[in-house]
Amino acid sequence: MALRNILKDSDPVLHKKCRAVTDFDDRLWQLLDDMADTLHHSEGVGLAAPQVGVLRRVFIMDMGDGKGVIEAINPEIVETWGTQEGAEGCLSFPGEYAIVKRPKKARMKAQDRNGKWFYFTGDDLTARCICHESDHLDGIVFKDRMERLLSPDEY
Ligand code: NI
Repeated sequence: MALRNILKDSDPVLHKKCRAVTDFDDRLWQLLDDMADTLHHSEGVGLAAPQVGVLRRVFIMDMGDGKGVIEAINPEIVETWGTQEGAEGCLSFPGEYAIVKRPKKARMKAQDRNGKWFYFTGDDLTARCICHESDHLDGIVFKDRMERLLSPDEY
């Protein structure tokens, strides 16, 4: 168990494209375990590896819905449906929220910590999270996609 430092907005690492994971080994599992501790400690719903300084295609999410932590390695969004517009934030941009348009529903395929491929579909907040975290792996942050920032009296 270890907490990792979350990089903040001015860090260039957040704006770089991540490489695929090729080794499903102890080092990856340690990263995933540390990311889960860091996510829970920060009370966020999603965290991507570049946010802790690792430029690999890994994210985790925990929607607090009893499904626990979903680990997505080398994820690809394979289908989306509809649109939603709503407020979004990011652990790398504390205290900032913006209106971001996202699909209403998204389906991804990804590998688990052992390299096994699986499909996962989510709607509403879960779809928003899948898209937000996938963007991180391409160096895209929510503010790159925002309609506008929210002012403090709006949240
Ligand atoms: Ni984020």
